[in-house]
Amino acid sequence: MNLFLDDLLTFFDDFSLNKISKKCLAISNKAFQVNNGNIPKWSQAIDTIDALPKGKVALKQPYISINQDGIDSELLMEALHKLIPWRKGPFMINGLALESEWDGDMKWQRITKHIKPLENKLVLDVGAGNGYFTIRMAMEGAKRVLGIEPFLLFNYQFRAIKSMIKSPLNALLLPVKLEDMPKKPIFDTVFSMGVLYHQRDHMAHLSQLREMMVPDAELVIETLVIEGPEDYILVPKGRYAQMRNVYSIPSIKTLKSWLNDANFNNARVVDVSKTTTEEQRKTPWIGENGASLEDFLDPLDDSLTIEGYPAPVRTIVVCER
Ligand SMILES: C[S@@+](CC[C@H](N)C(=O)[O-])C[C@H]1O[C@@H](n2cnc3c(N)ncnc32)[C@H](O)[C@@H]1O
Repeated sequence: MNLFLDDLLTFFDDFSLNKISKKCLAISNKAFQVNNGNIPKWSQAIDTIDALPKGKVALKQPYISINQDGIDSELLMEALHKLIPWRKGPFMINGLALESEWDGDMKWQRITKHIKPLENKLVLDVGAGNGYFTIRMAMEGAKRVLGIEPFLLFNYQFRAIKSMIKSPLNALLLPVKLEDMPKKPIFDTVFSMGVLYHQRDHMAHLSQLREMMVPDAELVIETLVIEGPEDYILVPKGRYAQMRNVYSIPSIKTLKSWLNDANFNNARVVDVSKTTTEEQRKTPWIGENGASLEDFLDPLDDSLTIEGYPAPVRTIVVCER
């Protein structure tokens, strides 16, 4: 099975992207070679899907929808089940819904009206998960969208989705961390969604994002925030809403001052939303006994997480290099 090489060669056949192709290839090759006991199961799923006819992709909000003629949908669904948990989506395949934990369309609706059109742009989606948003960006007419996501399962999920689609989308997902990317200013729009609070060093993350951007490029940051004055941050002891590795959650004013310190211009807050159980929900696609937001909140007071912190609120900030 060729996981990504053919795609990579076509994708990087672009004057600007070519500058980073060698290093991305080397890192991705290494990442896919790790010893992970799930790989045989995931590879089996991809082999099954690769053997099926490809279909057309379309948007049927909230779903990315794919329709393949003359295929055994049960076989396909069984293969996709081997790749659970599906955190990001949702997808509709031959009329059958793959309901992911997150309804990604809700976030995309909050973002898309506030950003410059992606048509013909080179786009970088950092911490892309399984690439649901990467594909949405490509469907908006971007020239190329590169998603980078170190978690291997999500790369297999993306590969499964791409394998079902007939005409190649201008989207690729690679198992690369932002800090390992060759720092070349080539992207017109850079997204960092749900990633900042997972960074030990948030300022390093912001400056690494900036290093990937052409002059005047747009940065879209989506992240958890907490109520409070400038300089206020929450540093959770242990988990936050059951999430591990949440290092710091800034107030909106603190976030704006971080962006200012990282030399971004014109930072504007375009959305602040409390996460609801409509957007982050339990579904059969996150596995049996899979927990979701309703289990991460205080059962007696849903304004608090189960650990006693303010419940998740997320903001979207748009700014320029
Ligand atoms: C909460 S998920 C967000 C996924 C998607 N962007 C969204 O908004 O729904 C954060 C993702 O960022 C990835 N991530 C964390 N640190 C990263 C880094 N330094 N470089 C690239 N991806 C990273 C994680 O593996 C995880 O899948």
